[in-house]
Amino acid sequence: MKDAFKTVLGLNAVSLLVLLNSGLRAFLLASKSAFTAAHVYDSKNLLSIPEVKLETILNGIEPVVALSVAKNESGRMPLDQAISLLSVLVKEQPKEVLEIGTFNGHTTSLMAQNLENAIIHTVDLPEDFSSEVDTLKDIPKDDFHLISKREVGKEYKNKRFSHRVVQHFGDSAVWDFKEAGNPTFFFIDGSHTYEYCKSDTEKCLELCKGKGTFLWHDCDFGHPGVVKFLAEFRKGGYDVMRIQGTPLAYLSIK
Ligand SMILES: C[S@@+](CC[C@H](N)C(=O)[O-])C[C@H]1O[C@@H](n2cnc3c(N)ncnc32)[C@H](O)[C@@H]1O
Repeated sequence: MKDAFKTVLGLNAVSLLVLLNSGLRAFLLASKSAFTAAHVYDSKNLLSIPEVKLETILNGIEPVVALSVAKNESGRMPLDQAISLLSVLVKEQPKEVLEIGTFNGHTTSLMAQNLENAIIHTVDLPEDFSSEVDTLKDIPKDDFHLISKREVGKEYKNKRFSHRVVQHFGDSAVWDFKEAGNPTFFFIDGSHTYEYCKSDTEKCLELCKGKGTFLWHDCDFGHPGVVKFLAEFRKGGYDVMRIQGTPLAYLSIK
């Protein structure tokens, strides 16, 4: 849709206030942003995925988790969300884990730290990936701002648990998931488009032969592709739920 049309549709009281306070350029941006916000506000799909309390998932178990308190950075999971993910991880005690989307390795590092002997497989795009020469352009990706600034795995390197992290490089649309061994716990946090979320999930399901614990990051209004896929997946019979107060979605198939 043309930008001018989006600006007209997004015009509201707030964008008019921005016009008065900050001028025309800021006004055009505010109106366009308002349109985008409304457009991604896919509440029907999101609300079709019910919420579950973390304590319900933990079912009486009170896991002790280790966390390093670092400053919040773009691409790094905030502490409250990390606590939820790690609690489920510690409760499950998987022997092998697969994370899709390593980024700097913050969550990879936390997962390795919180499991005594487990192997953490983590995959990210090749370090020299560039969108200009991407051979898989037909499958929409996102997070280009993160892709360009990542230092893959820098946070788990030179730690006492580094030897238990296996870094893989590849585009998850074509990477051979069998390289990740036999994981039973999956953290899906690569590209957040509908196409990638679907493909990554289906490949993880196939790898664990339908039995495992799955956590998806960014099941929220800002990521309509993730929400759309998970809503559809749920309709298809998978009991996906959103962990209350977080953008994490959860599924456990025993
Ligand atoms: C949001 S970050 C992951 C953050 C990380 N899981 C954490 O919690 O610290 C998303 C990562 O997915 C990677 N990524 C994006 N598209 C991908 C693809 N098609 N295949 C593999 N990795 C991908 C990006 O390079 C980026 O590092």
